[in-house]
Amino acid sequence: MKTFQLKAKILAQTKIKGNCWHCELNAPQVARSSLPGQFINIRVGDNLDPFLRRPISIHSVSGTKASILYEVVGKATEILTQKKKGDFLDVIGPLGSGFNYPKPKTQNPKPILVAGGMGVAPLIFLAGKLTEVESKKSKVKTLVLIGAKSKEHLLCVQEFKKLGCAVKIATDDGSAGFKGKVSDLLKYLLSTIDYRLSTIYACGPKPMLKAVADISNERQISAQLSLEEHMSCGIGACLGCVVKTKDGLKRACKEGPVFLAKDLVW
Ligand SMILES: Cc1cc2nc3c(=O)[nH]c(=O)nc-3n(C[C@H](O)[C@H](O)[C@H](O)COP(=O)(O)OP(=O)(O)OC[C@H]3O[C@@H](n4cnc5c(N)ncnc54)[C@H](O)[C@@H]3O)c2cc1C
Ligand code: FES
Repeated sequence: MKTFQLKAKILAQTKIKGNCWHCELNAPQVARSSLPGQFINIRVGDNLDPFLRRPISIHSVSGTKASILYEVVGKATEILTQKKKGDFLDVIGPLGSGFNYPKPKTQNPKPILVAGGMGVAPLIFLAGKLTEVESKKSKVKTLVLIGAKSKEHLLCVQEFKKLGCAVKIATDDGSAGFKGKVSDLLKYLLSTIDYRLSTIYACGPKPMLKAVADISNERQISAQLSLEEHMSCGIGACLGCVVKTKDGLKRACKEGPVFLAKDLVW
């Protein structure tokens, strides 16, 4: 897989809600070669502060455009919000391994996507690919479970619906959908459906991913988890992002960020 470094022109920068922003970039090489689950490493400053690039998932691609969805949590993401349409971002990507998903005309895998908070970001790109696989006549729809603190924090519900996915919601405070964690919603739903041949794809905070791993391992359901580990170089050189697997330490930025739940050691 080829990786590019480029100056990507910002085509649009929009505040979605709260601290969440959507940014559309003109990044032809990245857009053409990205897979869902891969990320770009962005230098947000014009000088060396912040020194490190920041990894952000590829949210969607279309033609020469690639977009990201990000939440302001610190210095780099705050600086990113100050970038305007027409500015350029120094970007390296696509990086990492993506999700493994069925190609068109292969057997439908009954996909279940589980997103916690900003975990929706890479799963929209994946949902677009999965819904391409589903024939119009197929009764099996991509099922997407979205979890958030409250109704106000829910992201991408309409976007997943527009792609043709069946969407179910969980909120911690019960202000929308199931009251509780999205992993509890997953557990509940799996008790009501035939999950043979299902594949779970998940992205979100670590405790959520651990819960999804426990649930899928217990039921022997294949699950692919995208881990958002802290990263330094982002290109496999510094070992700053290693995760424990049954096969030894692996770099989240190179062998990951997507790992099989059955391979991870928590
Ligand atoms: C592969 C990958 C894909 C990602 N995709 C997205 C995305 O699509 N959208 C998005 O908003 N964010 C994403 N992130 C997280 C994003 O990289 C961080 O939020 C960002 O680097 C924070 O930079 P900052 O300078 O604003 O905050 P910092 O000052 O660096 O950190 C602020 C706070 O956020 C915490 N934090 C920083 N990085 C991470 C991390 N990787 N995981 C958990 N907590 C962290 C810090 O511990 C600290 O508490 C991704 C991370 C990885 C590794
Ligand atoms: S961040 Fe340097 S090896 Fe992964």
